[in-house]
Amino acid sequence: MKEMTVLAISNIICSITFGNRFEYTDAKFKRLTSLFAENFRLNSVGGAVRSFPWVRYLPGDMFNIKKLTQNFTDIKDFVAEQIDEHRNTIEEDCQRDFIDAFLIQQQKHGEDDPIFDDMNLTASVLNLFVAGTDTTATVIRWAIIYLIHNKPIQDKLRQEIETVVGSSRVPSISDKSSMPYYEAFITEVFRMGNIAPLSVPHGANKDIRFRGMVIPKGSTLIPNLDSVMTDPELFENPDKFQPERFLGEDGKLNGKERDVMAFSLGRRVCLGESLARMELFLFLTSLLQRFELLPESTDNLPSFDATLGLARASKDYSCRAVKLK
Ligand code: HEM
Repeated sequence: MKEMTVLAISNIICSITFGNRFEYTDAKFKRLTSLFAENFRLNSVGGAVRSFPWVRYLPGDMFNIKKLTQNFTDIKDFVAEQIDEHRNTIEEDCQRDFIDAFLIQQQKHGEDDPIFDDMNLTASVLNLFVAGTDTTATVIRWAIIYLIHNKPIQDKLRQEIETVVGSSRVPSISDKSSMPYYEAFITEVFRMGNIAPLSVPHGANKDIRFRGMVIPKGSTLIPNLDSVMTDPELFENPDKFQPERFLGEDGKLNGKERDVMAFSLGRRVCLGESLARMELFLFLTSLLQRFELLPESTDNLPSFDATLGLARASKDYSCRAVKLK
């Protein structure tokens, strides 16, 4: 499931930034996504380098710093190539994508404006890839694991799709507001999949007074989203996968979904939240409309064990997608 989900979601970011998608067999595209995936895995939240930055100066590459840096240089070269190609073919009246839009602003503001220089363009494109590919792809893989383990939930979701969308057309984003069971399901996947348990580290840019303590300027702050997702005062039996906890007696969302802060909160809340929610809806409902998702065999269900890289991801697994009649 891993390669398929990563390539599909990565292609969405490619469409936004580069203006085109790639064939899944394209060697350059496959290499690019595998470099991102490897860095995602190596750049572990719990990794030693995060707490002890000096280990990067040790001989050899015990902590994969050289590998991370080399991968990152290769990715940057690929993006630089794309930027050059765009610069040579750009037409002001026909913006193709994010790079074109950025380059047009660069022309207006001048290349010396640090907001619109090439370095910021490369960094912005990389951020969209880093933050916008493996995150959504990881949630899709958690969702499929929960669907395989909970056949009645899978059937109920398919029933909702049948009622709202039918089978003669593909689901569209305008169907989303009429599908509360889907919304409850995906919220429970966000909660239990819990892909960013420690969100993203922040820094204090000045001394901060908080509940009688002082957080000194320069401190690293690690938000603990996990403590919310598993809080029994917010979610009864937090270890149980139960989409119904988000539904009222009328079958509509009961407001508890707002406690699931998978995208963090505040001014630096995830920039891609609305895109991710759209991707997940279209991907999962289209899949369920056409396929029944089953384990590889009845005695080989995908594991709930997770590995913690930049995101909390499921272990690799295979499954069967049986086409519905
Ligand atoms: C289900 C999928 C996703 C989850 C669970 C998720 C979660 C998060 C979280 C927890 C943060 C940290 C916020 C903070 O610093 O407090 C974040 C930041 C960010 N996310 Fe996402 N994300 C997802 C998908 C995406 C997508 C699809 C994109 C882009 C297209 C994206 C772009 C970003 C960016 C650029 C930031 C940094 C924002 C900033 O620092 O201002 N994310 N995301």
